Amino acid sequence: MHVPSLIEKKREGVELTAPEIAALIDGFTRGDIPDYQMSAWAMAVFFRGMTAVETQHLTKTMMQSGRTLAYPASSPPKVDKHSTGGVGDKVSLVLAPLLACDDVWVPMISGRGLGITGGTLDKLESIPGFNVNLDERTALAQLERIGVFMIGQTADICPADKRLYALRDVTGTVPSQPLIVASIMSKKLAENLDRLVLDVKFGRGAFMKTRAEAEELATSMTDVGKLMGVQMSHLLSPMDEPLGRTVGNALEVAECVEILQGGGPDDLVALILDLGAQVSNASRAQFWQWLRDGTAWEKFVQLVEAQGGDAGALEKIGSRHRAPISHPLLAPKSGTLRSVDAEAIGRASVQLGGGRQKANDNVDFAVGFSGVGKIGQPVVRNEPICVVHARSQASLASVLAQIEQAFVID
Ligand code: URA
Repeated sequence: MHVPSLIEKKREGVELTAPEIAALIDGFTRGDIPDYQMSAWAMAVFFRGMTAVETQHLTKTMMQSGRTLAYPASSPPKVDKHSTGGVGDKVSLVLAPLLACDDVWVPMISGRGLGITGGTLDKLESIPGFNVNLDERTALAQLERIGVFMIGQTADICPADKRLYALRDVTGTVPSQPLIVASIMSKKLAENLDRLVLDVKFGRGAFMKTRAEAEELATSMTDVGKLMGVQMSHLLSPMDEPLGRTVGNALEVAECVEILQGGGPDDLVALILDLGAQVSNASRAQFWQWLRDGTAWEKFVQLVEAQGGDAGALEKIGSRHRAPISHPLLAPKSGTLRSVDAEAIGRASVQLGGGRQKANDNVDFAVGFSGVGKIGQPVVRNEPICVVHARSQASLASVLAQIEQAFVID
């Protein structure tokens, strides 16, 4: 294949064939096609888009660039959830063990924080000892034993996505719908799932700002999944305010412990139950029962112990990771909370050290926000509307003004 011709073809908006897409992706993954040519191609895709058929070929080629998981013939249905990411989105930590209370397997491969949205792996790593880097054999043995694993992408899974994502990240080509669809779905399809539920978020704190954009992304991901034989479903969920009442790694784990012990904030519990009911055999009522009667908690403890984590630390995770400064933000007047800006809180959380500004940054597990007020909640002057957890007075001062503006009361 003559690579410049393929770039020109895409630049002119002409549909590429399956062998042409395979030549580009395989050549790039092997290192035969240089970054400058692949960058030009990605930018052509950014402006010209891709047809549904091209997106499907791209996804399949990327999935086939590495290993896909294989299961014993008689194993139960394999199910998973993918969220497009939001602020305070800790759903996976509860949903994975909850689904595993049902007769399904949950082979969950997750990511790290991206921009203002937190990552499941970072949250899990705030649990002392928790190992997200299991090899495939160990992970599959755990799946047979307890029905769930939660790990990061291995070097063998979708290497094409790893290379292409790194290139997109520095060439302004991340926000291209077909490239996003292929990137996300190739990794999920490598899990060899029977059913996948998508939680596609829209609003201030999400990648997609409008419901219409979220619907379009959901439709495209669903089409690709169905063509590959996966039973697909999706929810569109608003992300204008943070999900639940905490933002920040260990703070979010503490909130998950509350939910797994039958408590927790209503918005988060409702979303977890809705998503669970989409991919499992059990009903929403059954899942709620498992949250309240200790079944889901027991499964979570099994999961943490299986992956080397200290389950004894779970109920005191807040004291394991206590930031030196806890600063209550007081309501400047009495009234009703009209808006709580998820984007501003997400940005402040990264600034406090809870997320990464550069790919190799370490995250600070202790910092973030707790007791975050919810839209529609009555508030009283001089009572806290959230608590900021900071490593230093200087980092607290750097976020205070934007956090004060994030809460609108009238
Ligand atoms: N998450 C991914 O894994 N890939 C994208 O392209 C965007 C979000």
